[in-house]
Amino acid sequence: MPRKALIAANWKMYKTPGQAQSFMDTFLPLVAGHTRDEIALFPSPVLLPTVVSAAEGANVAVGAQNMHFAAEGAYTGETSVLQLKAVGATHTLIGHSERRQYFAESDAIVNKKLHTALQHGVVPIVCVGEVLEEREAGHTGAVLKTQIAGAFAGIAPGAATPIVVAYEPVWAIGTGRTATPEIAAEAHHILRAEVARLLGAEVAAAMRILYGGSVKPENATALLAQDEIDGALVGGASLKSDSFAAIVQY
Ligand code: PGA
Repeated sequence: MPRKALIAANWKMYKTPGQAQSFMDTFLPLVAGHTRDEIALFPSPVLLPTVVSAAEGANVAVGAQNMHFAAEGAYTGETSVLQLKAVGATHTLIGHSERRQYFAESDAIVNKKLHTALQHGVVPIVCVGEVLEEREAGHTGAVLKTQIAGAFAGIAPGAATPIVVAYEPVWAIGTGRTATPEIAAEAHHILRAEVARLLGAEVAAAMRILYGGSVKPENATALLAQDEIDGALVGGASLKSDSFAAIVQY
């Protein structure tokens, strides 16, 4: 079974509800009837009601950029999986490099969040990737394996089907510096082999591994032509509807 590509927009901390609505007004007609790939948008939590309501009945899923590992509790400033589901989020990013870098999110926290998402039926996109110093020191493979093993601790093969992985080399995020299709495919290969070691060949063969890091309309086709690349997680170039629609239609 070929893996269906997932093209995901990470809006980060951008857009007001009005701007999100304008995006939806122009984006949805541009991708209407597009069934080759899955499309998902990841806005800030405060935008979820607007985006979910605009996407109703459309071929576009909506998810969160982050969630807490507890289903509820005294965690000021956080958002729970129950709250996200109640407003219509069906997916969530977990362990984005900006969460790891600025909010001290460790592999152990990523692991707890992954368990929570799976328990509650939310599709998790687990983000991994090396920083520049790690790549230059030749440690990319070791870093990716550690991140995957940490994230997947205690996950049973039978529960892993919904998991999506996103390979996002930190040196390529928001820098305009994209991994070449070959560099990305090599990292994806390492990740898939590690998933196979942990969860078996069948789970690994079915798992989608997205690439993220300065994906743009100009480079999406070459990246997505790689067999190992099962979609894209797009930051900057997902903020404008025409640019993100062009990536969806790579
Ligand atoms: P970018 O961000 O496309 O702006 O590099 C990707 C991401 O952080 O998910």
